[in-house]
Amino acid sequence: MTVYDTSLSGQVSLRLLRKLQLASSKAQERLGRNVFRPEDFDVVRISLPISGLDPSFDGYRIAHISDIHMGQWVTAERLNGIVDLVNREKPDLVAFTGDSVSYEVDEIAEDLSRGLARLRPKDAFVGVLGNHDHWMGARKVREILGQGKITDLNNAVHTIYRQGEMLHLAGVDDVMLKKDRLERVLHELPASGPAIMLAHEPDFADVSASSGRFCLQLSGHSHGGQIALPGIGTPVRLFMKYPMGMYRVKDMIQYTNRGLGTNEFWLRINCPPEITVFTLQAEDSKFPRKVAGKPFLSIPKIL
Ligand SMILES: [Fe+2]
Repeated sequence: MTVYDTSLSGQVSLRLLRKLQLASSKAQERLGRNVFRPEDFDVVRISLPISGLDPSFDGYRIAHISDIHMGQWVTAERLNGIVDLVNREKPDLVAFTGDSVSYEVDEIAEDLSRGLARLRPKDAFVGVLGNHDHWMGARKVREILGQGKITDLNNAVHTIYRQGEMLHLAGVDDVMLKKDRLERVLHELPASGPAIMLAHEPDFADVSASSGRFCLQLSGHSHGGQIALPGIGTPVRLFMKYPMGMYRVKDMIQYTNRGLGTNEFWLRINCPPEITVFTLQAEDSKFPRKVAGKPFLSIPKIL
């Protein structure tokens, strides 16, 4: 296994976390807690007016998923259920914002690529890497995601065409590990057509919004803190500026998805795993303005 943290303490802690992951995974299976239940997931549907969007893109549907952390709480069975939930939304495009794995890659590679390959967007499945993907070896993870039919958007641009008009999907590689190259992305982006940025770390919004080129940034990374307390919110907001949900940053909308999986602590309280489905609206859209999902901070729920 290739790891990017080459310090001795880094390698030892990754090895320990891998052992913990494998042991917890076996325990989950033994206890029969590895099964998919649709009610565990929150499908959040948001209609979003996009300035300069051509009418040919009115109603364009983007399903946003993040932080699968395959091999921890997300098992092969859960991933297949997640893919079914996404496919049911009939998205034009699926956007993934990183952390497909946690501390083990070889044992979950086949389940992950096979699961993702079942996604059925009309146009494309695009994505960027997160910090965990790099820790486990970016080359290997890229290979797995490639087998899952993902278009690599790390410091790259992918353009969708409708009747000659353009909608751009752009992405940066992981910001925490200083792999992001926004200049390269801006250079590659055509001058016209709305552009959506994918960045694993949500606080990159301050940088991407300052460029003035993006209408929307999609991110993950925070998992929403995995815990949201009534009246207090997520404790992760102490460390992160944009920990979950929607924000306006200059002229850009920042959306932070709560993720699908969990990290070391396989627990979520009041902060269910999320699939977000955006319906893009052109001016004079025929699609009604809508923000819907299970209400936050209402009924405490422990996974
Ligand atoms: Fe993550």
